[in-house]
Amino acid sequence: MINLFWRLQKRLKGRILLDCVDSINFYLRLIYFLAGLKLKKLSINLRNIEDLYDIIDSFQYKLFKKSRYTVTVMMHQKKEELIEFIELIKKSKPKFILEIGTSEGGTLFFFTKFANPKAKIITIDLPIIRSYASYSPAKIPFFKLYRLKKQKIHFLRKDSHQTSTIKNVKKILKNSKLDVLFIDGDHTYEGVKQDFENFSPFVRRNGIIAFHDIVEHLPESNCKVSQFWNDIKDNYEYKELITRNNENWAGIGIITKDK
Ligand SMILES: C[S@@+](CC[C@H](N)C(=O)[O-])C[C@H]1O[C@@H](n2cnc3c(N)ncnc32)[C@H](O)[C@@H]1O
Repeated sequence: MINLFWRLQKRLKGRILLDCVDSINFYLRLIYFLAGLKLKKLSINLRNIEDLYDIIDSFQYKLFKKSRYTVTVMMHQKKEELIEFIELIKKSKPKFILEIGTSEGGTLFFFTKFANPKAKIITIDLPIIRSYASYSPAKIPFFKLYRLKKQKIHFLRKDSHQTSTIKNVKKILKNSKLDVLFIDGDHTYEGVKQDFENFSPFVRRNGIIAFHDIVEHLPESNCKVSQFWNDIKDNYEYKELITRNNENWAGIGIITKDK
């Protein structure tokens, strides 16, 4: 039985099956917690964004040397673009951040490190785990160890398009406004448009709204962020962070909300 389990795991690249069962698995929570402690130790004195990127990009944790399950944080961002974006975050020290698209927690890690030490960060992702999409609830203890002592992270494992999710965000923010909205969830035209329309009203005047994947993707991909970005960017003061080695993905577009 155990053998069959591991064979299946191997076929599914070790992720999907574990993600299905681990919400009730104390063992995995423990692994993630210990992994979080290791990452904290490795990153605690680092303030340089590039060094932190390298740490997180190469991060691996195994409970035992021969353990089959390795905790990693796959980065879904191009290094140069992320560094420039996080430089902006670092300068403005935002107190209220909303991220749509938690995934493996790569961008969340950088938000915690460079936001205000008392920041409130809300991060949204779907409750259903698919390969490289969303995360298991067992990973929350790992993500929680990212935060600085007085920061608070709110994990919403929900569809960002649902009315109840918008209500949750409103409740968390109370009367405060967002300094930063980072949209990196549903990459279809309608999906990104809905996220923009639903959550941009929560952003304060002069706050920023950033979109990931503004570079034109291959037609067969379902990513249409570039179309939406091109439709709205001229209405705002905007900036594009795009590395020149264009590989048909990534690119961060940032607008400043003027009212
Ligand atoms: C590209 S990943 C985010 C990467 C992450 N920001 C990073 O760079 O570390 C996109 C994520 O958006 C999530 N997503 C897609 N549609 C969504 C929706 N409607 N609501 C919430 N999350 C969604 C996916 O599950 C996936 O985990």
